[in-house]
Amino acid sequence: MDTASPQTGSLTSVEPQTATGGLSGRVVAVVGGSRGIGFAVARACVRAGATVAIIAREAGRLRKASHALGGVLTFRADVTQEMQTVRTFRVLGGQCGGLDALVNSAGTFTYKPFESTTAVDWNLNLKSNLTSVFMATRAALPLLIESQGQVVNILSISSRHAFAQCSAYTAAKFGALGLTRVLAEELRPKGIRVSAVLPGATNTRLVKAFGFPIEPERLVQPEDVAQAVLTVLLAPRHTTVAEIVVTPSGGSV
Ligand SMILES: NC(=O)c1ccc[n+]([C@@H]2O[C@H](COP(=O)([O-])OP(=O)(O)OC[C@H]3O[C@@H](n4cnc5c(N)ncnc54)[C@H](OP(=O)(O)O)[C@@H]3O)[C@@H](O)[C@H]2O)c1
Repeated sequence: MDTASPQTGSLTSVEPQTATGGLSGRVVAVVGGSRGIGFAVARACVRAGATVAIIAREAGRLRKASHALGGVLTFRADVTQEMQTVRTFRVLGGQCGGLDALVNSAGTFTYKPFESTTAVDWNLNLKSNLTSVFMATRAALPLLIESQGQVVNILSISSRHAFAQCSAYTAAKFGALGLTRVLAEELRPKGIRVSAVLPGATNTRLVKAFGFPIEPERLVQPEDVAQAVLTVLLAPRHTTVAEIVVTPSGGSV
């Protein structure tokens, strides 16, 4: 996959009663918007009246997500690949008439002892959780400078706390929080606000794959994380919601 493939859905099929929400008139791009937390964020933004574009690698999943969202723009790209990512945001900016907010929600999670963590595991975690934030944010920057927009990075409780058997993931997520904080300072003079949402264990396939012994209903739900993202996006321009941590009430996992 060496080219970004924009797949245009119908933006007019968003239900009319949702178009008067607090994000009306704003364009939001959700990297990782085809499933899990990113999908819930995209849905919340559509309901709040935004024009939404979702970016991910798998075309079939993008199509399904777009259909479920009432028809949003989809872009097939691997945001760890520079050329694809740059091209995607160039096309996206043209098709959407700009960009007001970028939500970075791509990521992967490896749960195994350090001793058996391979270089492949390490690189996968670093690329999908950290390099993706760098690539997508840098590619979107010209559009965000134009709009004095926002960046919201979906990080993790593992950006602040160390849990055993998560070395590669934790290294990437600590790094991504560091990058988020630097960008918040560096882009502030350009009028761009940069924030992070740090979920604990959330009920998506990512956490299901590791079979934690916790009932799904006791986990954070993707919609809870989406609500936190809306809080960030709807904050008045003179305030920045810097970091929101959302963990299961029954315990901080
Ligand atoms: N679930 C949890 O318990 C939890 C807790 C804390 C933090 N988080 C963080 O929340 C974020 C989302 O997690 P999730 O649970 O929603 O995962 P998910 O259900 O697996 O969704 C991940 C999304 O990212 C896309 N993606 C992955 N790699 C990509 C790449 N290189 N380029 C473009 N798109 C890519 C996936 O689509 P394709 O595979 O088609 O590309 C998918 O749309 C991650 O950063 C994760 O670390 C999750």
